[in-house]
Order: sequence, then structure tokens, then C-alpha cells
Amino acid sequence: MDAAHKSGRFPIYAKKPKKEGPASSRPDEDGLSRTKLAGESDRPDSRTWTSFIYRQHLARFCLNPVIDAIRSRRTVKKMDAERPPARSDVETVIEAAIWAPNHHATEPWRFVVVAGEARKRLGAALAAALVTSSTERVAPERLEVERNKPLSSPVIVALIGSPKKGDNNIVPQEEVVAAGAALQNMLLAAYSLGLASFVRTGAHSYSQEVRTFFGMGESETLIGMVYLGYASGAVPPGKRIPFREKTTWLQD
Ligand SMILES: Cc1cc2nc3c(=O)[nH]c(=O)nc-3n(C[C@H](O)[C@H](O)[C@H](O)COP(=O)(O)O)c2cc1C
Repeated sequence: MDAAHKSGRFPIYAKKPKKEGPASSRPDEDGLSRTKLAGESDRPDSRTWTSFIYRQHLARFCLNPVIDAIRSRRTVKKMDAERPPARSDVETVIEAAIWAPNHHATEPWRFVVVAGEARKRLGAALAAALVTSSTERVAPERLEVERNKPLSSPVIVALIGSPKKGDNNIVPQEEVVAAGAALQNMLLAAYSLGLASFVRTGAHSYSQEVRTFFGMGESETLIGMVYLGYASGAVPPGKRIPFREKTTWLQD
């Protein structure tokens, strides 16, 4: 048991409530059980508007670092290319990725870290892919844009989906889904370390030139290139369609 378990900091590790005790987990209006949140008294009349606000906003977001990070993390495109993150931070980001859930314990991922001069070689691969895919002559300025993309951040971690082969139980789609979960872990870990992150793909990322650069096998797919660094400008606010518009409950 580590310190986080012992401290009970994470609710899922908290001790089970005593049976005869207060209704820590009782049915809500919709019949689903809910857990008593910080600051909420055990008395039934405690669910007034003040406790409602407390429950909705303070307890749910401010006191929950995971939910808070999920909501407030943003894609940051402008980074200080001259200020690389510590290697240990990059490794923490990669380590977070490998704790993503994955079916049949396939761990369908691997990582290629591109930093320093190697970013220029990645830029050259992207530019070459642009030339290959174009039917007309590519303007030098357009080539330059492609070539410079990897130079916009000091470190890029390519997450490569590397599905396990030779097992009929493995569903290819699940391998990609697991790698996607790893990608989100990376972004949240970066955010928690004060790093800016930006997942970059684009048509040329899937080219043979880039596949060769990353030494990818036939069954592998590029999940995303995670640009990492420190933000060098304002970060635009996030925008999402409210989840209720995307949610259907089936209860009867
Ligand atoms: C797999 C994947 C690939 C992405 N590729 C690009 C990209 O090539 N260019 C880009 O501008 N953003 C890319 N993004 C980032 C999205 O634009 C960004 O997540 C979206 O705008 C939402 O912003 P947020 O991350 O701040 O919520 C990608 C995101 C994912 C998950």
C-alpha cells in the first residue's frame, strides 16, 4: 500500500463505510446510489441549495484534481522551442501512458522521443511526404511550413499504436482505443507537470516517409505526435457541446 492509498486521498481507495452508519451511499432521486461528498451532512435535510452548489461545484471540481485537470487541460500550440522540459518530466509523461487500460494485457504502444536536431529530420520527412502526395510542384514557402512544424516545440513524443499479433482474441479496434487512452494520459500528465502539450497529426503524418522515420512496422499506426514544452502565449479557452446533449440513459 503506497502513501496515496494510506492517506485515503483518492476516494476509490477510501475505507468502506460501516453498514449501520450514516447514509454515505444512498439512492438519489433517480434511484442510483450516490456517495456523500465533502461538506455534506448526514441529515436528510442537508440537501438544500447550499449543499447543492457545494456538491456541484466545489466538491466535484475544485476538490477533485483529476476532474479539474480533465476539464481545464487545453491544447497549447505556441511553445517556447528553446526551453526543453526536463528529461524526467518527459519520462513521467511516457510512464503515465503505459498505465492506460488495455484488453488482454497487450500494452499496444511504443514511443519515439524526437528532440534537438532529430526534429529537423522529422521535418524533412514531413516535407518529403508533402512532395510525394502533391501532383503539382510545391511552393518553397509551403515546404518550409511543413519542414518547420517539428521545430515549434522542443520535444515531440510519438505514440505509436503497436497491436499485439498472433492472438485471435485480440480485437484490432480495442488496440487503438487503448492507445488513445494512453494518449490522454500523456496530455493529463503533462498538464499536471506544468507542461504545454499539443497532439499533432495531419495527412503527412501517416505517410510512408514518416513511418520510415519512426521505424514503424506494417501493423503499427501513428496515434499522435505529442508536442511537449512550455507555453509561450495565451491558451484559448476550451469549448464542448454539453455532455447531456450527447447522453442517453436507459433505465426501464
Ligand atoms: C488524435 C488527435 C490528433 C490531433 N491532430 C491535430 C492536428 O493535426 N492539428 C491540430 O491543430 N490539432 C490537432 N489535435 C488537437 C485538437 O485540435 C484539439 O484537441 C481540439 O482542438 C480540442 O482542444 P483541447 O485539446 O484544448 O480541448 C489532435 C487531437 C487528437 C486527439
